[in-house]
Amino acid sequence: MLGSLLLTALALGVAALQQVPVQAEDTLPKDSASELLYLHRKLVEIESITGNEGDVGQWLASYLREKNFTVETQEVSENRHNILAYGSKRSTTILVSSHIDTVPPFWPYYHNKTSDVIGGRGSVDAKGSVAAQIIAVQALREHLRDDLSLLFVVGEETGGDGMRAFSSWSERPQPNYEVVIFGEPTEGKLVCGHKGILGFTVHVKGKAAHSGYPWLGVSANDVLAEALGKLLELREKGLPWSEKYGNTTMNFGKIEGGVAANVVAETASANIAVRLAAGTPNVVRGLIISALSDVKARVEKLGGDLEIEWAGEGYPPVNINCDIENFDTMTVNYGTDVPLLAGDHRRYLYGPGSIFVAHSDHEALKKKELEQAVLDYRRLIVEASRMDHQTQQEL
Ligand SMILES: *[C@@H]1O[C@H](CO)[C@@H](O)[C@H](O)[C@H]1NC(C)=O
Ligand SMILES: *[C@@H]1O[C@H](CO)[C@@H](O)[C@H](O)[C@H]1NC(C)=O
Ligand SMILES: *[C@@H]1O[C@H](CO)[C@@H](O)[C@H](O)[C@H]1NC(C)=O
Ligand SMILES: [Zn+2]
Repeated sequence: MLGSLLLTALALGVAALQQVPVQAEDTLPKDSASELLYLHRKLVEIESITGNEGDVGQWLASYLREKNFTVETQEVSENRHNILAYGSKRSTTILVSSHIDTVPPFWPYYHNKTSDVIGGRGSVDAKGSVAAQIIAVQALREHLRDDLSLLFVVGEETGGDGMRAFSSWSERPQPNYEVVIFGEPTEGKLVCGHKGILGFTVHVKGKAAHSGYPWLGVSANDVLAEALGKLLELREKGLPWSEKYGNTTMNFGKIEGGVAANVVAETASANIAVRLAAGTPNVVRGLIISALSDVKARVEKLGGDLEIEWAGEGYPPVNINCDIENFDTMTVNYGTDVPLLAGDHRRYLYGPGSIFVAHSDHEALKKKELEQAVLDYRRLIVEASRMDHQTQQEL
């Protein structure tokens, strides 16, 4: 009895879904297009560099309430909130998500009506996705029987504290979502996966001395230079690679050491990010430790120290579903919140604009890309949820 009721409900669901004219529509209705531009502009105009997402979050929450979403906020840290929005039910099959923080510095919004280029900090990463997702979901709420939620998180740009907090939130909607669509700049393509990440800092402690008598000290800078040499060797030949993601890369992002030319450096450090194309963070941690073990042993014998501080657990390459027809696909080298959302769900990654301008001083996209993203999100949501219903019927 329950089974047949369920099947009927699912069949109705599928029938309802198939009425959505997703492919037929290739331009956005005028009122949706102007609402999209308005929403995007408001979001970009409010500065929201990671750590300072309070104002944009407040504005977005009240915007969504005006649109008749039920809005909940989750405090991640003081005056920084994740925003969860949904309609008549709290636990939904589909979740659509992106982030509201940006990298520094702030660049003001502009819209060049001659070229139809829209720019400003966050215009691409990821407020383009946020605005397009909201407009797309608004249009689909009826068709999908309000079985859609929106989640906008803080802190994506600096390690994902927002998404981590949502994952471990005791009031998190249960059961888990079945389909999650993430928004990041992907040039309007579906992303089939991205590299993993492992961050670490090498800290060296030596012993200060007058540079005229260097044998009385232990130069932390010398030791660090040697350690970086070992890591360069490792990078040249020893790191895992794969057909899908190419080579693992290692970036020496920030190096510091010493105080002056005439002083033997007492401390030195290097911040390093590894983008994993294969293997696991554990494997790469092992390779790094063994590459540095000789240098470490030597400096310790001289009374100094070399320590590796890991920036969190890291994660291996992240495979993402991209099995939707008529989307171009690609892989990317940047990290996202995708692996940080706990649960067993099908996941997709799509968004307007290019990652190559995302963190630059010329962050911008075309109005047309933004509008196309609304249509694409609609199609993506419908197709992904339709597959979900079909899978359930087959079971
Ligand atoms: C929200 O709901 C109210 C009351 O049902 C309705 O009058 C209003 O038009 C709705 N607004 C939107 C944007 O859907
Ligand atoms: C707007 O774009 C046009 C066409 O690309 C360009 O010639 C013009 O200089 C731009 N205007 C501003 C204010 O940047
Ligand atoms: C990967 O590294 C190898 C060896 O350093 C190099 O020859 C090759 O061009 C690299 N491949 C890519 C895709 O960068
Ligand atoms: Zn982003």
